[in-house]
Amino acid sequence: MASSAGSLKGTGTYVTLAKTLNLLVCENDMKFQPTEPSQGKFSYTGGDGLYTFAAANGMRIRGHNFIWHSQSGWAANVNGTRDQMLSIMRTHIDSVAGHFKGKVLEWDVLNEITDDGNGNALRKSFWQKAIGNDYADSAFFIAHRADPYGKLYYNDYGADGVNGKSTAMVNLAKGWLTNKVTIDGIGLQCHLSSGFKKEDISANIKRFGDMGLRVSLTEIDIKGSNTADWTNLLGACLENFNCTSFVTWGIYDGGTWLGSSCNGCLPYDASYQPKPAVQAMIDLMNNVDPAVVAKRKDFIKTDLAVPIIAFPRELRRANLRGGMLGVDAVPVFSTGSEMVDGLGRNRAIAPNSPWAGGLSVLPQ
Ligand code: XIL
Repeated sequence: MASSAGSLKGTGTYVTLAKTLNLLVCENDMKFQPTEPSQGKFSYTGGDGLYTFAAANGMRIRGHNFIWHSQSGWAANVNGTRDQMLSIMRTHIDSVAGHFKGKVLEWDVLNEITDDGNGNALRKSFWQKAIGNDYADSAFFIAHRADPYGKLYYNDYGADGVNGKSTAMVNLAKGWLTNKVTIDGIGLQCHLSSGFKKEDISANIKRFGDMGLRVSLTEIDIKGSNTADWTNLLGACLENFNCTSFVTWGIYDGGTWLGSSCNGCLPYDASYQPKPAVQAMIDLMNNVDPAVVAKRKDFIKTDLAVPIIAFPRELRRANLRGGMLGVDAVPVFSTGSEMVDGLGRNRAIAPNSPWAGGLSVLPQ
């Protein structure tokens, strides 16, 4: 669930409830503005607090998030050149990912980068406007270099089922995979309302699985929810081997960013009491298809294994399954301020790339 670190102190009911879960995410504390409140000055208090609590209680954490159009403080007002904004991006991700390196199960590298209108093109955020569309690729490469242990995600809302936005995300992800961008998964935020179709969300999760990508349901709340909504959403996840995390945005109706429009949007009521949905979800988890469980276990078995720094995602997996280290690295070269990789593509990442002038075997 999402929480602030501050709320996880003491022994109250909320803390007891939190300890029943196994994955935590900072609702706000690890975003750009709180972690880099002024340029080059970093603060990790909230994230450190959340991690300490999680580690003490056998839980993992998600890191949310590096690059977003919102809650980015001073960076949104720099109006810098492509190189300046790349440098700001690089310093931020290097620092935050470096600080939490090895402690984070999943990073939301990119948050909400697809436009709702404009043909679901990339959102014209201050990052996109200054750097260009390859800012997204660069963010993944930088994050992978800084924390090769964390699984790297692109997270967005309104793309939970099969629709124009999620189809645009499928196409984005296809391009990234072709270009050997270091993405591991897609985050579907799942800010939902009662009555959504399980089949629709399941089909959407599946099409990312068909591409070899994980899907995490990252910010779940269901306005006006009933028991069937919760078992439908969890069921859509459980029946897909590539659905690997199920995270609610809060845990009880008394503490949610939705305020009164929550209308029963979380599994515990405002007095921290479990709704019938909680037992129903436990029952569902106790009755999953063992074949899917086995496939999921195999799919995620590289988690926290030895990292392979600076190699594309499919090779990281191949390597961890025995062999191939170094076969397929994409080198990056500088041609002045423009950077071109070994395939002749423009690559924003190139400044300070560990690949520059180094490894030279091109993809087949
Ligand atoms: C929200 C938090 O819940 C609020 O406390 C804050 O005021 C604004 O951000 N999508 C996201 C989350 O990726 O970071 C947002 O969290 C909710 C929507």
